[in-house]
Amino acid sequence: MKVMGIESSAHTFGVGIVKSGKVLSNEKSMYKISLSGMIPSNVADFHIEHSNEVISRALESANLSMDELDGICYTKGPGMGPCLQIGQLCAKTIAKELGIPIATVNHSVAHIEIARHYARQKDPIALYVSGGNSQILKLQKKPKNHYYIIGETFDIGVGNMLDNFARAAKFDPAWGSTVAKAAQGGKYVELPYVVKGMDFSFTGLLTRTNSLIGKEPINDLCFSIQETAFAMLCEAAERAMLMTNSKELCVCGGVAQSERLKEMLAEVAREHNAKFGYAPNALNADNGAMIAFVGERMLSKGKGESLSKCDIDQKYRTDLATVY
Ligand code: FE2
Repeated sequence: MKVMGIESSAHTFGVGIVKSGKVLSNEKSMYKISLSGMIPSNVADFHIEHSNEVISRALESANLSMDELDGICYTKGPGMGPCLQIGQLCAKTIAKELGIPIATVNHSVAHIEIARHYARQKDPIALYVSGGNSQILKLQKKPKNHYYIIGETFDIGVGNMLDNFARAAKFDPAWGSTVAKAAQGGKYVELPYVVKGMDFSFTGLLTRTNSLIGKEPINDLCFSIQETAFAMLCEAAERAMLMTNSKELCVCGGVAQSERLKEMLAEVAREHNAKFGYAPNALNADNGAMIAFVGERMLSKGKGESLSKCDIDQKYRTDLATVY
């Protein structure tokens, strides 16, 4: 099947096309986050403005015309309501126009599944780290095949924490990759470290680090907030691996683009003779190809949705979605 996937849950309007599990194209336009953060209605306007152009680019780079698509899918959630609605509207319009089947995809499951595919892993501990989410998961067969959440953040996602710190430090662009660059050569400043079993918390770390801006060298703060947060994630992921006897570890989501995080997790896996893997960076950032990847599997197993039931769910939890 040739399936188009549309992603619009946050700042990215992404469109990807997948055929038999192979990514044919993966195009996107990204809303630039300002110092005031993301205002959902402004991001939705951005998606409306860019949707046609990104869809055309995805078809062009896959060397396909619209009527050659066999199916379409979009992100049902989790995400920001006004933004999710734009992807939903685009996908439903195309499905109706072409008379092709449509599927609704869980954004978090798509992040994990594309990573599991590229890591060539069967049943890993998955560390899913992005702006809105930070979770440790494992596939569970019953009552349905779904990702069971073993551990997660008590408050905000690690990406959200790094972005918030970047805004407080007045970085431009105000996100994690800028913090990573500024962290080079930094020295360690002691900061709050909160892990409870396989759960963790980032707000205390953020508040303390923000309060030290102007009092400690900024590259020391960048280095220390990153090292502390990533060490917390590594400790929780390591405990999850040991508790479940797992010999596979994968990382996914926007923060999985961090070279430092991957280096630290690889070390954890090495210590336990476990396999470690992840998807290429373009497939870890929010993107349409991962949605198409999961959507193709759903549609090929007849798990599409009728147009009238194609909804969105801003709080669509990872453990509520069946993995096909
Ligand atoms: Fe994401």
